[in-house]
Amino acid sequence: MKKHIAVLTSGGDAPGMNACIRAMVLNAERAGHKISGYLRGFNGVLNDDRICLTAQRMHNLIQQGGTILHSARCESFCQPQVRQQAANNLKSAGIDTLIVMGGDGSFKGAHALKAHWDGQIIGIPGTIDNDIDQTDATIGYYTAIETAVNSIDKVRDTADAFDRVFVVEVMGRHAGFLGMSAALASASDFVLVPELFECAQTSLQQIKQQIMQRQQSRGPVSYVIVLAENLWPEGVIGLCQNVTEATGLEAKPVTLGHVQRGGSPVSQDRILAVKSGTFAIELVNTDISDIMIGIQNDTLVTVPLEKTWQKQKTLGKDARKTALHLMNQRYID
Ligand code: F6P
Repeated sequence: MKKHIAVLTSGGDAPGMNACIRAMVLNAERAGHKISGYLRGFNGVLNDDRICLTAQRMHNLIQQGGTILHSARCESFCQPQVRQQAANNLKSAGIDTLIVMGGDGSFKGAHALKAHWDGQIIGIPGTIDNDIDQTDATIGYYTAIETAVNSIDKVRDTADAFDRVFVVEVMGRHAGFLGMSAALASASDFVLVPELFECAQTSLQQIKQQIMQRQQSRGPVSYVIVLAENLWPEGVIGLCQNVTEATGLEAKPVTLGHVQRGGSPVSQDRILAVKSGTFAIELVNTDISDIMIGIQNDTLVTVPLEKTWQKQKTLGKDARKTALHLMNQRYID
């Protein structure tokens, strides 16, 4: 049966969202479905602000960062009457399937629509944070690691030149996937992520000890700390002050910020996006709904939306062990 599918991107944009939109549009058109895009997340549904998506518009899009549908957070969507309005709009637009690409906040909104609307609801995880449970990766995560690593490599150059201490703050909201991966891939000297954090005092003590040990054996040294955002009580500036006080060495702050959300997606994100988008269109005309498309052990799976936020995704025991092992090697080399 030919259906009318609508897609939206919501919350923090992530590189690869466009690649996913492209895959959905090409596959939908091939299957004879109509496909529309709501602009600016759920706001588009509320304002009935939508555009018709065609294969022609998808030309040269796979490599573009950001999202052609724009994104936004929609705080009012937690109100039932607002969701009812969205449901009414979906009904009058004749939408059969709504595909929501975003993070857990977007998935909660999509799931809550179910009480008001009987159309098919599909979630696709798109966030640089990789903090969605039941999927090994989210669209945008790999590119953000690459962006962070490239920046940390540059910081390392100048840190080495001046034998300086730097603290690089990376995004991740309340998760350490991005911070841990960026620290590992850049051979940073210390990493502070929520999953491994005990307390500020202990961390400072460890940093001080390592710097002093190295100074004793090698003389002046550079030292790069990767800090996950929202972790250190006084933020990156506060940590720099604390390190400076503890070691007597001036520590310089670098906040990578929204740079990590932009740029052309790396191949891994493009491939994940194409696979997920293609699978989403295959699900149209089935009775599978209220689910997220995830990837587990290289296999696409469907997971009830509710399950994606019930449990906090963790770094995993092995990942932690590997990370600590690698970091320790650097401390003593
Ligand atoms: O969820 C993606 C993310 O980039 C987080 O890493 C970060 O905490 C947040 O969004 C920033 O949101 P905003 O762009 O609204 O400041």
